Amino acid sequence: MIHHDVIVVGGGLSGLRAAIEAKRAGVDVAILSQVHPCRSHSGAAQGGINAALGNHPDGADDTWEKHAFDTTKGGDYLVDQDAAIQMAKDAIGIIYEMDHWGCLFSRFNDGRIAQRPFGGAGFPRCCYGLDKTGHYLLHTLVEQAYRLQIKMYVEQYVAKLIVHDGVCQGVVTYDMIHGGFESFTANAVVIATGGAGRTYSNSTNSIISTGSGMFMAYHAGVPLKDMEFVQFHPTGLFTTNILMTEGARGEGGYLVNGLGERFMEKYAPKFMELAPRDITARSIQTEINEGRGVNGQGYVHLDLRHLGAEKILERLPGIRDLAIHFEGVDPIEEPIPVVPSQHYWMGGIDTNVDGATPMPGLYAAGECACVSVHGANRLGGNSLLETIVFGRRAGADVVRYLETLTDKRPNARTAFATAQLMEQMIDELGAKNGTENVYVLRAEMTETMKEHYGLFRDEATMKAGIEKLLSIKERVKNVGLRWTGRVFNVDMIRTVEFEGMVDLALCVAEGALARTESRGAHFRTDHNTRDDVNWLKHTLAYYRPDTPGPRLDAKPVTLGPFELQERKY
Ligand code: FUM
Repeated sequence: MIHHDVIVVGGGLSGLRAAIEAKRAGVDVAILSQVHPCRSHSGAAQGGINAALGNHPDGADDTWEKHAFDTTKGGDYLVDQDAAIQMAKDAIGIIYEMDHWGCLFSRFNDGRIAQRPFGGAGFPRCCYGLDKTGHYLLHTLVEQAYRLQIKMYVEQYVAKLIVHDGVCQGVVTYDMIHGGFESFTANAVVIATGGAGRTYSNSTNSIISTGSGMFMAYHAGVPLKDMEFVQFHPTGLFTTNILMTEGARGEGGYLVNGLGERFMEKYAPKFMELAPRDITARSIQTEINEGRGVNGQGYVHLDLRHLGAEKILERLPGIRDLAIHFEGVDPIEEPIPVVPSQHYWMGGIDTNVDGATPMPGLYAAGECACVSVHGANRLGGNSLLETIVFGRRAGADVVRYLETLTDKRPNARTAFATAQLMEQMIDELGAKNGTENVYVLRAEMTETMKEHYGLFRDEATMKAGIEKLLSIKERVKNVGLRWTGRVFNVDMIRTVEFEGMVDLALCVAEGALARTESRGAHFRTDHNTRDDVNWLKHTLAYYRPDTPGPRLDAKPVTLGPFELQERKY
């Protein structure tokens, strides 16, 4: 059994930033991560991070108030306005802090941090480092973590929370290198494990984005909020769904259909290709569904050729490489075939603006959390921002929480018993002669999510999807381990985590079926308008150990200075 004052689960941007904040306050903090922090999914983020710096010639009048307003409107007013205001205010200091720590932001000729336009924003406020912004931010925070000598345990799959008398007191982790389960006790735990993109078959996300932190909290009784709101990025590569950054359109790229038309003119005449993602993705899908895809196929073109080789090489070198290697297309010469692709979870573990969940001692930050800063649709460039702003805030609040504790001794018996439970579960799985193949079930589940809970939803399709998910959940009982070795048994991880992924899928499905309106990324063809009278509220999903599918509840949206209005772009 190992003890640290604070355990952070996940070594991406929010986990690192939370750990840095706690460590700077003198707290003993350790990071447990499935991969080395430099390989976290944060590193895949491309286009940028929003802050109202006002550096762009067209952005001199930008303010944090306007950033908060764009965020609220972009989220179709399901945003908690106090959270959006907090994020927009903190953004400016966050950028300069990262800059001072050595982050490689691109620059204007006068030396100021460069900014580019992004979707749904009234001003060009997206700061960037080429089209590799996540990579640069991540490496900057990893350096800071090393500088502060934060203890990092890598190749650790955190499998269960240790909960004693309703208080979180640590985690049980599968140590892949040494092959076994270990209890880590702590006075507070911060979950920062990212999103659950891999529950969809058409995701831009890394293979580790399985939502493990979300279902770990859910299974421990913590509610998940607004899970029906799943974001589809307008431009993933056609054959692989690899992200082609919104920065490409920010730099002036066009979306073109099979008739050669810049079709966004029909859907968002003012913002065109820089409408928010929900609107842009639905517009692309409409073109495809109505037969105006390129060559009658299921994609449209992202055309950058008019930007010229120099600009593409200078601002968008990463996506050029990806398009060449994964689609066989050089954007300097040819348009890129793109398709909307699952990208982000607006929903997640219910937290307040300081990352605290309803369970004492448990915090969450980043994509796994739902502070309600994105509401029903996140704006591009607000995700990297959220990770750092709310990672930092969670780290600071953990320190305050520790100061309130009079007894800082986690219950060793509970910690030991929780690890034993995991060992026992693995032994049972190993002994089972499984008749179902977890990878077949996984493919069925991810395809169900793509087909039944995509850009356009309706009651009949969603009900049919729930039937499929329930049947998959039942069949999970017949899955066994194919290999019982304990060292680096990735097959074991994939098997153990699968039921949790199905549980998350059911939260999306039940939440989406219950919400009889269209708002942001949740668009129902059978209820195609926003219904503020009945649905201006957050969905809460609670785990029921004996019943498949969640118990749904609701809580109010925190309103503020921005009045509800129709969303037009
Ligand atoms: O398009 C992108 O570069 C993605 C940015 C984001 O998800 O915020």
